[in-house]
Amino acid sequence: MRSILVLNSKGGSGKTTIATNLASFYASIGKQVALVDLDSQESSIGWLKARSSAKPPITGIKGYGIKVKRGVDYKIIDAPAGLQGAALTKVLNMAESVIIPVLPSPIDMRAAGDFIKNIKKHSRVVKKKSKIALVANRGRDYTNIYWELDEFLEGQKIPFLTMVRDSQNYIRGAEKGLGIYEMGPAMTEVDRTYFEPIIDWLNSKKSR
Ligand SMILES: Nc1ncnc2c1ncn2[C@@H]1O[C@H](COP(=O)(O)OP(=O)(O)OP(=O)(O)O)[C@@H](O)[C@H]1O
Ligand SMILES: [Mg+2]
Repeated sequence: MRSILVLNSKGGSGKTTIATNLASFYASIGKQVALVDLDSQESSIGWLKARSSAKPPITGIKGYGIKVKRGVDYKIIDAPAGLQGAALTKVLNMAESVIIPVLPSPIDMRAAGDFIKNIKKHSRVVKKKSKIALVANRGRDYTNIYWELDEFLEGQKIPFLTMVRDSQNYIRGAEKGLGIYEMGPAMTEVDRTYFEPIIDWLNSKKSR
């Protein structure tokens, strides 16, 4: 079973959006998926509740300590904001691949820089048992944020995968319990192109 964690200490960076879209993508290609919602806001569980029973099923799991059933191919973990110390360690221990979404704003990037420095010291990351990668979320224009990101990434030594576009499709998906891979291909084509490098990384050996 692959275990994928979407993590950032900052609220509203896109953890739930990326976690639910990954869950929906893997379900749409016939994989058995468990979506673990560690956030007391239960946004991922809310997304699942909005999901039509006609869509490929995804098992929702609330909170810690519940084992996923046998046969699950992908466990996607949606982390709460503000994790630190022992709670952060506990969550990191749950995953082999960690995606960190960051909003391309100076405040968010600064906070993410400190957060990444912190998690890179965790023994699990040091021992390469958890692989981490960065994603810029809600980008409108690659060129505009690129130089800022470039500066931000300098010295981080953490792979930067892509920019997830700021798109109404993610908002519509959140409302309906869907992901962009389950919505009209023409309408979501550009969003999919930008999202794809996340899936490519997760498929590659670099992420485990
Ligand atoms: N790429 C995007 N395009 C458009 N809207 C987005 C995008 N990513 C996130 N949003 C919206 O921004 C808000 C915050 O996103 P999300 O809930 O995924 O963040 P989060 O990190 O899970 O937040 P929290 O820390 O509160 O759990 C939501 O309303 C979501 O629909
Ligand atoms: Mg969330």
